[in-house]
Amino acid sequence: MKWDSKLYKNKHAFVFEYGESLVDVLDPKPEETILDLGCGTGELTYSISKKTLNIIGMDYSPEMIASAKVNFPEIQFFVKDAANFNFDIQFDSIFSNATLHWILDYKSCVKSMYHNLKPNGKLIIEFGGKDNVGLIVKTLRNHLKQYGYIEQSQLKQWYFPSIGEYCQVLEKVGFRVTLAQHYDRPTELRENNNGIKDWLEMFAKNFFFNVNSSDKAKILDHIQEDLRPRLFSNGKWFADYKRLRIIAIKQESL
Ligand code: BEZ
Repeated sequence: MKWDSKLYKNKHAFVFEYGESLVDVLDPKPEETILDLGCGTGELTYSISKKTLNIIGMDYSPEMIASAKVNFPEIQFFVKDAANFNFDIQFDSIFSNATLHWILDYKSCVKSMYHNLKPNGKLIIEFGGKDNVGLIVKTLRNHLKQYGYIEQSQLKQWYFPSIGEYCQVLEKVGFRVTLAQHYDRPTELRENNNGIKDWLEMFAKNFFFNVNSSDKAKILDHIQEDLRPRLFSNGKWFADYKRLRIIAIKQESL
């Protein structure tokens, strides 16, 4: 997906603002080498860099990395594919916030993360878990289908696993999972009356490929109105986020 880094930073800053609590869990130490996987426009990479200078950011999107380099010129950023990446060094920790649900080839991604960690290195990750944005996605698929956009309604764009499913993949590759949480995090979509429509325009635009603009406008209206009773309260829109937060250690073979 092609990202609009300005729109992301201006209207969807909650993505990295929520990630600050994961930086607290990471608790970076000055001597540690850390990879921020899926760094986007670099705000959390910068936050980590206040504690260690050995921090590298990577993202699949050249637009995001270009913006990160302008914002934080003192940090090293690379365009790389999370499903198949390699660095010359191994890291003490790999940190990832709100990225791994975009990686459909999650098995290759877990293998890459394993290979790029030192023995006993730590994975500290948070992303969308099972049923994440479930109401939004179900309503989106239903309306696309009702308008006859069958292929679009079946698009597979995200991977939202359960704890059991993802931990099994981690363990199979050689991680020991020391913490796994699957929690509800209703997420306020700030600053406008078009919370759901703006969210869809930013994150779900691929579902609208070959949808003509008049149908698209009607579908967006229908989705938002259908969701109003469940996701609008006290004048604010909320997305039904469900996060998977996991800590895992790279085990050496015994
Ligand atoms: C998420 O962070 O959970 C998310 C963001 C965009 C699209 C889908 C999920």
